[in-house]
Amino acid sequence: MIDRMQLGEVPPKPHIAFRSPAGRLRHEECFTRAGFDGEFSILYHEGPPAADRAIGSVSPGPFDRKAPLFVPHEPLRRRLVLGENAPAGWTPVCGNADVVVSLFELPPEAPTDSGFANGDGDDLLFVNSGRATLETPFGDLDVEGGDYVLVPRSVVHRWRVADRLSGIAFELRSGFHVPTQFRNTVGQLRMDAPYTHRDFKRPVFRGPRPGPGEILVKKGDRFVRREPVESPFDVVGWDGTVWPFAFPILAYQPKTGLVHLPPTIHSTFASRGVLVCSFVPRVTDFHPEAIPCPYPHSSVDCDELIYYVRGNFTSRRGVGPKAVSLHPAGIPHGPHPGAYEASIGTRATDELAVMLDTFLPLSLTGQGIELEFPGYHDTWAAITS
Ligand SMILES: [Fe+2]
Repeated sequence: MIDRMQLGEVPPKPHIAFRSPAGRLRHEECFTRAGFDGEFSILYHEGPPAADRAIGSVSPGPFDRKAPLFVPHEPLRRRLVLGENAPAGWTPVCGNADVVVSLFELPPEAPTDSGFANGDGDDLLFVNSGRATLETPFGDLDVEGGDYVLVPRSVVHRWRVADRLSGIAFELRSGFHVPTQFRNTVGQLRMDAPYTHRDFKRPVFRGPRPGPGEILVKKGDRFVRREPVESPFDVVGWDGTVWPFAFPILAYQPKTGLVHLPPTIHSTFASRGVLVCSFVPRVTDFHPEAIPCPYPHSSVDCDELIYYVRGNFTSRRGVGPKAVSLHPAGIPHGPHPGAYEASIGTRATDELAVMLDTFLPLSLTGQGIELEFPGYHDTWAAITS
């Protein structure tokens, strides 16, 4: 939830008769979170949204968000997944009970009659490169490289990819939220939050229109195919706080200190057991003897995943764009030898990366291991010797 929106036509009060100019009764869809205790939106459909011609099991085809099959982390060590070698489609690379991390490579395709709805979690994507339109009942969202994109749980959607879309996706199984410290007592984003209400790209509503003739729903990592009687995009208006949005990472306002500040100053979005952080170009610490590079640390309660986008990441060597590093709790980690010393006296960094801290340990999947650079843990010693 960012804030409340209202687009298209809605009646003056919820749950009252609302008719088309021809007199046809429109149908509400109350899209609610946390049962009926959480945020919600109300959509007004021209036809009944729950009527299906057919429902049944199906092969997920192009929407194949494969069930993650985790491999025990033995022995405990630092890992590196080379995302540049990821195949087309969705590739789950690691995760735990709170989040599943996937790489995606979506080529432009001919328009399809299929929509997708992920009942397993809110999908928070970070688009590394490409350009696409996300079609939803709430409207269309144009996204491009550098955008975070939130597709709330169970929202029917369809991607129209203009330029090959690549990036990393976090399936947040207990739901997305803005860190509570970024809000004031009425829910507004505070003036010292790293983003403002104006920074978010919102859906553009185009009115009722034909939608996908089939909807593939993922729930419990299994798929079901719905064939709705009415278009899921036959919405004449909606209001509420559940809606898809995009946020350009370069709109994130970084903070710099006299000396190095902990990674939590990069906090961006959150979920249960999960914190998403953004590392963006910025000036670095300004004490004359400051060491701008992160300190070696044992963050003993969190696993740390970093997705490298571009720029020269201050603390790493030899890690290219689209790589995913996983540094587990239990063993210390820190900058590659040499990076720590070399950072003294630097005044700025052009790094661009997304970090995920998780309280539950992350395990790689079989697909992630296929993309792994096996000698990563040893690169610290190799550089030293
Ligand atoms: Fe770290």
